[in-house]
Amino acid sequence: MRKPIMAANWKMNKTLPEAAAFAQGMADVRSLSDKVETVVCPPFTCLAAVADALTAKGIAVGAQNLYPADKGAFTGEVSPEMIRSIGCVYVILGHSERRHILGESNGFINEKIKKALEHGLIPILCVGETLEERQSGKTKEVCETQLEGSLKEIPKEAAARTVVAYEPVWAIGTGVNASVQDAQETILTVRNWFVQTYGQETAAQVRIQYGGSVKPENAAEYMSQPDIDGALVGGASLEPDSFLSIVKGAL
Ligand code: PGA
Repeated sequence: MRKPIMAANWKMNKTLPEAAAFAQGMADVRSLSDKVETVVCPPFTCLAAVADALTAKGIAVGAQNLYPADKGAFTGEVSPEMIRSIGCVYVILGHSERRHILGESNGFINEKIKKALEHGLIPILCVGETLEERQSGKTKEVCETQLEGSLKEIPKEAAARTVVAYEPVWAIGTGVNASVQDAQETILTVRNWFVQTYGQETAAQVRIQYGGSVKPENAAEYMSQPDIDGALVGGASLEPDSFLSIVKGAL
């Protein structure tokens, strides 16, 4: 049985005092933790403070990126060990904003996934098509290419631990969420890719989220689908009450 995982992606939002206010306003979710895993991914500048405050409330913390090297001359970058050392468990990799704005390739994302796993971090690997790709019927092909490139040479056990977020690019931050049927259908395609690549057992273990304009009003509907195991939430995760009601959509 896969445990639902509801994750907040704050992106480039919140100063340290704003992050502290969120942590203070967030309920203790330990009583829900048998049924749902809750994760918050703040920017690097408040990662340690948020990890301290939220871990005590039963909420795991994740980073939004890492650099795929142990240490050294990489000005401005942050290593997996640094992230791990402040109590982070997860790391978002392959987000469409990094693919499209910063030009990250599947090969580079693959290096990051390998390093994350080597250091005991669980990647939340994002995949998803643009509007143009969807309109030309390429959704399945795009997601499969991203999965193949990003998970190249990742062994079965590590693949089973990885979380995948299916995030159609056209649904991110637009208020136009994918229909529940479309999200389920593509997520099933993603799961079938795991069946073909790693076998039935791994495919049954891997958790796959939907992301793209998830809100308190639609979270439960996504969670009612057989293959949707969670949500990756941007805009609607910035307020404690809103994020908490999305988390409760998994119950
Ligand atoms: P959104 O972002 O919820 O604001 O659409 C989701 C994401 O980018 O992870």
